[in-house]
Amino acid sequence: MDFIIALTIILGVLPMKSNGANNSFGQYYTYLWGTDHFWVDPQGTEVQLKMDKQSGAGFKSKSDFGSGSFLIKLKTPDKKTKGIVTSFYLTSDPDDGKPAGNHFELDFEFWGVDNRLQTNVFNNDGGNREQRFHLWFDPSKDFHTYQIIWNSHQIVFMVDNIPIRVFKNNTAKGVTFPNKSMHVEASIWNAPFAGSPVTWSQAPFIAHYRDFGLDACSAPAGSEDISHCSSQRYFWNKPEYWELSAEQRQKMNRHRKSYMFYDYCASKTTRKPECSLNEQFVEK
Ligand SMILES: *[C@@H]1O[C@H](CO)[C@@H](O)[C@H](O)[C@H]1NC(C)=O
Ligand SMILES: *[C@@H]1O[C@H](CO)[C@@H](O)[C@H](O)[C@H]1NC(C)=O
Ligand SMILES: *[C@@H]1O[C@H](CO)[C@@H](O)[C@H](O)[C@H]1NC(C)=O
Repeated sequence: MDFIIALTIILGVLPMKSNGANNSFGQYYTYLWGTDHFWVDPQGTEVQLKMDKQSGAGFKSKSDFGSGSFLIKLKTPDKKTKGIVTSFYLTSDPDDGKPAGNHFELDFEFWGVDNRLQTNVFNNDGGNREQRFHLWFDPSKDFHTYQIIWNSHQIVFMVDNIPIRVFKNNTAKGVTFPNKSMHVEASIWNAPFAGSPVTWSQAPFIAHYRDFGLDACSAPAGSEDISHCSSQRYFWNKPEYWELSAEQRQKMNRHRKSYMFYDYCASKTTRKPECSLNEQFVEK
């Protein structure tokens, strides 16, 4: 009896962990919009978001965070069309119905055709830091793993554990770095930037999500005090996550060289100050 009580107390104070059995949607996430276009199975192991002419749909994390490893498995709609975007992202923008102003945001956005994946970073501004890839697989055929690791040293975007993009903390050189709590959102919607027209005759478009566990440090929504989230008791803050290993860097450069087809850093009119500071990762 005492042992059980002690165990319950210990389990109760463990930080959020995705490796156990408790990986269900309802533990980490909640419905955001789309009414009957949102579906979750009773065990909370899979969510489907449906897009048709009436609506898309979306969900969001229950908590806001100041650092973490944000991972999900997803499968994009098997019906291919321009203009439909399946997303998984972090944002500091409150869902208050007002147009998003300057804020922090880290995006994975899958376009409906040609295995296209757009990444973007909003750095207390309106974004415009797109880097786009042709994935080396068809993201609608199987579940793949998409992950953002955010600590006070860097932000890393990963696809099936392969880093494809790094945004370093260059505040010492005058570049802003996300310093405000963010929550996770996922959605399917109609975005003209992903091309047009939408082939509505193929609707509905259904995106599938699994693996909802989050390893992340909670912080109040809207808070700029996230310093407690750089504690090294969280694995993603440990020194081995401060920069990529030589092997990771090689893998990233290889994938960027082969599969990146648009980079805001590549053109004088769109590049920003951090481009030259992150240059060691570009290897053209
Ligand atoms: C999962 O959550 C339930 C209810 O909160 C708890 O009783 C159980 O011990 C948890 N299991 C694991 C493996 O953490
Ligand atoms: C960025 O790095 C500096 C050290 O160069 C550190 O003081 C600061 O807290 C970091 N910023 C964030 C938001 O983590
Ligand atoms: C967070 O970053 C913004 C943009 O660089 C800056 O204006 C603000 O002072 C920072 N806040 C804190 C608490 O460091």
